[in-house]
Amino acid sequence: MRFKTPDHERLAAAVLGLSLGELRARRFGGSLQLPESYEHAAKRLEAGEPLQYVTGRAPFRLLELAVGPGAFIPRPETEIVAGAAIEALLDWPADERLAVDLGTGAGPMAAALATEVPGAQVVAVERAWAAGGQARANLEPLGVRVELHDVAQVATPGGPLADLAGRVSVVAANPPYLLKDAELGPGVAEYEPPAALFGGGADGLDAPRIFLGAAARLLRPRGVLVMEHDPSQAEAMRAAAAEDGLFEDVQTGLDLNGRDRYLRAVRV
Ligand SMILES: C[S@@+](CC[C@H](N)C(=O)[O-])C[C@H]1O[C@@H](n2cnc3c(N)ncnc32)[C@H](O)[C@@H]1O
Repeated sequence: MRFKTPDHERLAAAVLGLSLGELRARRFGGSLQLPESYEHAAKRLEAGEPLQYVTGRAPFRLLELAVGPGAFIPRPETEIVAGAAIEALLDWPADERLAVDLGTGAGPMAAALATEVPGAQVVAVERAWAAGGQARANLEPLGVRVELHDVAQVATPGGPLADLAGRVSVVAANPPYLLKDAELGPGVAEYEPPAALFGGGADGLDAPRIFLGAAARLLRPRGVLVMEHDPSQAEAMRAAAAEDGLFEDVQTGLDLNGRDRYLRAVRV
C-alpha cells in the first residue's frame, strides 16, 4: 500500500493511534488495515482542510495539543519563540516565575511554559470563545489559568487581570500580525480564523501594538516580553517597544531559518 502524500500517511497513523514508525512497521510487515474512518478523513484532507484539524491534534515542542476549527494551528516557528520565553522565565527564581501568554489560541506557548519551567505559574488570555474552549481543554490539566478577555483591556486600572499589573516576570505572545495582502499557505484563508491571522493597519501591527501595551502594564521591572512577528516587522517592532521608554534591551530574535522572528524587550 502506498500513501498519496506524506499527510495521508500521517493521517493514517493518527486514525490508528500509531506513531509513524509503528505504522511503517505494519505496512512493511503486510498487516496494515485502514478503517472506514480513514476514507472519510482523507476526503476532508483532499478537500484542503489542514491535517491538524482533520486529526484534531497538533505537535508543539514536547507536547501534542488538541486543536480544531476556531483556533489557530500552532506553527513550528512559534516553538522557537516559546523557547526564548522559557529561557527568560528560567532566569527568575522558582517562586517568581509568573508568566502570561497573550492571545493563547489553543494554548501552545502557555503549555510549553507550564511544562518546561519548574515552578511556573502561567495565565493564558484569549478573546475568541472557540479558541478559549480549546485552550481550557489543553491548559487546565497543566494547571494554567485561562482567562477570556480582550488583551486591550488586560491589566488596565479596574480591568481584567488588574491584580497582575506590574507583577509578571515574562509575557509571551504570538499576536495576529499578517498584512491583509499576505500570501497564505494552503487552507489557511479557508479554514483558520481571520482574527487570529491579520494584525490590522497598513503594517499589520495594530494588534501587536495593543499586545505591547498590555505587556507594558503586566510586566514587573526587569520582566521580559517575547513576542512573535513577521520578519518584515522587526525594525518597526523594536521602534514601537523603545518609543515610550517603557522597554530597554530591545532585540530581535531569529527563527530556525535565520529570519527575524520575535521581539525580546525588557521592562524598565
Ligand atoms: C496568531 S494566533 C496565535 C495563537 C497561539 N498563541 C499560537 O501561537 O498558536 C493569535 C491569537 O490571538 C487572539 N487574539 C487576537 N486579538 C486578541 C485580543 N485583542 N485579545 C485577546 N486575544 C486576541 C486570536 O484569537 C488568536 O487566538
